[in-house]
Amino acid sequence: MLKYFGPLSIDWTHGIEKITQHSGILIALRNIQEQDTEAVKSIMRQYELQFPEIVINYYPDRWANYFNGSSRSEYWVAVCGEEVVGHAGFLFNNDLNLYEIVGVVVSPKYKRQGIGRKLLDKVCERIRQRGGKKVVLFTLGHPGNEDTLRFYKSTGYVEEKYELDYFRPGYSRVTFTKELV
Ligand SMILES: CC(C)(COP(=O)(O)OP(=O)(O)OC[C@H]1O[C@@H](n2cnc3c(N)ncnc32)[C@H](O)[C@@H]1OP(=O)(O)O)[C@@H](O)C(=O)NCCC(=O)NCCS
Repeated sequence: MLKYFGPLSIDWTHGIEKITQHSGILIALRNIQEQDTEAVKSIMRQYELQFPEIVINYYPDRWANYFNGSSRSEYWVAVCGEEVVGHAGFLFNNDLNLYEIVGVVVSPKYKRQGIGRKLLDKVCERIRQRGGKKVVLFTLGHPGNEDTLRFYKSTGYVEEKYELDYFRPGYSRVTFTKELV
């Protein structure tokens, strides 16, 4: 299995962060573009538990609001060559008065190479630049999502709340937060 041991080189030209990994593959992080959206939806479709169609259907409007500059949001993709291999974003949650991280996903064949962590780092860096001091995100608390809970815990997120049967019986919600220092 390919492992990620941290960036060996970062190239900041054109606002694109390029990360050369130990494995030799080059992953770039950049803002999402309209032509990336179908690829992101196809990655999401590979995780039916976390991204049922009803959740995927939030994204076209979210991305459209970002493309037309009408929301306090950003969406980022990780690309390997021409291939979109991951996505994460944030929007402003008015009810909580906090930036909320959304749409975190990495293509199955690129998992466990540090791409998810890098995407979270990037969106948090951007939230900090907008003055955010704390972020929130929601995920699932019922069986099948254990690896995702491990991922958030190992990247510094703190479980704040567990809401049993939040979505419907058998479907629980976990709230994670992270202080941005
Ligand atoms: C969760 C997800 C985004 C993680 O992306 P990733 O690129 O594989 O994660 P990373 O390689 O950056 O992992 C960082 C750390 O998280 C932990 N982690 C990640 N995946 C894990 C797993 N399957 N089991 C246990 N720990 C895991 C590890 O500590 C890992 O560090 P290590 O590989 O050095 O041990 C990816 O698995 C995914 O897309 N899952 C399905 C969709 C999903 O659940 N999205 C979140 C919706 S709220």
